Amino acid sequence: MGSIEGPVYTSVLDGVGATPLVRLNRIVPAGGAPVWVKTEWANPGGSVKDRAALAMVLDAEQRGVLRPGGTIVEGSSGNTGIGLAMVAAVRGYACIVVAPERTTAEKIALLRAYGAEVVLTPGLVPREDPRHVVNLATRIAEETPGGWLADQYGNPANPDVHTATTGPEIWAQTGGRITHLVAGAGTGGTITGTGHHLHEHGVTVVAADPETSRYGGGDGSPYNVEAVGHYLHPLTEQDVWPAVYDTGVADRTERVPDGETLRTVRRLAREEGLLVGASAGLAVAAALRVSAEAGPDGLVVAVLPDSGRIYLSKYFDDAWLTTLGFLDAPEGPLVRDVLGASEPGLTVVPATATVDEARAVLDGYTGPALPVVQPRATSATTWAVPDVVGTITAASLDGVRGDGPVGTHAGPVPAAVGHGENADAARERLSGNESGAGFAGGCGSGAGPGSEDPVLVLVDGRAVHLVSRGDLG
Ligand SMILES: Cc1ncc(COP(=O)(O)O)c(C=O)c1O
Repeated sequence: MGSIEGPVYTSVLDGVGATPLVRLNRIVPAGGAPVWVKTEWANPGGSVKDRAALAMVLDAEQRGVLRPGGTIVEGSSGNTGIGLAMVAAVRGYACIVVAPERTTAEKIALLRAYGAEVVLTPGLVPREDPRHVVNLATRIAEETPGGWLADQYGNPANPDVHTATTGPEIWAQTGGRITHLVAGAGTGGTITGTGHHLHEHGVTVVAADPETSRYGGGDGSPYNVEAVGHYLHPLTEQDVWPAVYDTGVADRTERVPDGETLRTVRRLAREEGLLVGASAGLAVAAALRVSAEAGPDGLVVAVLPDSGRIYLSKYFDDAWLTTLGFLDAPEGPLVRDVLGASEPGLTVVPATATVDEARAVLDGYTGPALPVVQPRATSATTWAVPDVVGTITAASLDGVRGDGPVGTHAGPVPAAVGHGENADAARERLSGNESGAGFAGGCGSGAGPGSEDPVLVLVDGRAVHLVSRGDLG
């Protein structure tokens, strides 16, 4: 325990920054470099984004673009919005946050608890779509009298606050012994600002990125780590990266699959007593790789952006993890036991292929239906579930003209099961699940209603097989 004398703040905003570093004790590889983590959930609004939120507001006040009685508007997957809502409460502004629909219920409740108005919008839309988070927030800011768009993606106050605070804090807290910084990038503000400062001291900067994120060279398909990486909608015409992200700041990138990230999140809670979000798990998973490589003379610091408390319904919910194929049920038979071993690999046809091209793929294909997917330049054999837009069969294309895109003829998106779900529980879940039940040609034969309905089998959040419901036993 430290001193009994804590500070007295003039407002909660004095508590932003100066977060502790904590040494990891049990999950660091033997012979690896020590890994210390920057506990950014210790900020009063609960995340690293308090720093950027406060800095952007103070800067806007100073420049006279945010005036008394004004309204702070931002597009945010949650934490920047929460930080801004907290700052708005203290400094007397209204606050409107535009958030993607997939944002966890806990984050949305927090925004409302701080008094912010929350506008939900679909998350997986092309960048040019007026419903895109940034486009909608920009419009609302323009239409709101006294509205000011914080613009974390383009506002230099975002990275600058990390150059001024996060970087120097880490350098001082490690006594100048840090050799590697590991951080994820959403807007890129944290890694850009912190990285620039620590680069001046010769520290190696490592970006941690979800495996399919565009930042690290992935195909841009959806992943299950909130608030970091860069998703690309296939219909986006011009892929815009945040202006504040200096992608040259990282000496290298560690691309981490979601399974490794989420298993690290669980280990951090159970073996280190650190309840953190998935972007923190991503950073630590990358830091453990760096530690093994750097050896005992290194000192790795990973930035842990937020707490796991706002993800209890996701990353810490066993049912959520199991149905997505990240975790095995405690008792079998598991779905994969019932299905038997086979090489993962999903035969697909892109939605932009012609009907005739799809017919050629169907020729000789033996599955219950052929998944139609978002067009992506990839040779992937596994697919992110939101990228599966529906399915077709030879029968469903009967009499259809051959030259149009097959996507317009796809039936409903199939239901999905995790490969480690208990098979009986999965069957029961599907029988109460209407998704796929109305699939054309899916009913009426075999062991019962719907036994021919297509079902995706997921491993670590990605579809690896398509089977029929009857195959599950
Ligand atoms: C949980 C979480 N992790 C990581 C980040 C990424 O931080 P930055 O925008 O500074 O790159 C954010 C940003 O909102 C976040 O909310």
